[in-house]
Amino acid sequence: MDNNQIKLINLPKILDERGNLSFLEENNHIPFKIQRVYWIYDVPGGEERGGHAYKENKEFIIALSGSFDVVLDDGKETKRYSLNRSYYGLYIPKGIWRHMENFSTNSLAFIAASTFYQEDDYIRDYSVFKQNKS
Ligand code: TYD
Repeated sequence: MDNNQIKLINLPKILDERGNLSFLEENNHIPFKIQRVYWIYDVPGGEERGGHAYKENKEFIIALSGSFDVVLDDGKETKRYSLNRSYYGLYIPKGIWRHMENFSTNSLAFIAASTFYQEDDYIRDYSVFKQNKS
């Protein structure tokens, strides 16, 4: 799997009359070792999250419940991904500007990350991001 490519990844889906089951394994379904997971929930209507890039951190985002959009910008073009199922997710390599919006009521965003939380891994200034890309 190419580590540098934005990619929607389908996860295993074990269909069962008792309820379906999906899972992911580090370095198998997603192309990195997981050091951290976090989740975003109770997002009020109309709010946005994100609006930054990471220098090193890679992420995999799943809409475990409900739906939202992830908008990605690689410095050249912007692309919107609508996530609305719990059996696939979006892989985001390092160095991509991103934000999340259009959260549905009761949506739950689950994020697997390749690094521990470190504020100095964030690029929060879009002009700095653009400068680094040029
Ligand atoms: P942040 O990633 O800045 O969220 P957003 O870009 O959507 O605003 O995180 C918000 C706050 O939460 C920030 O002060 C740092 C803290 N935080 C942690 O302590 N650990 C984490 O794993 C994450 C993702 C955030």
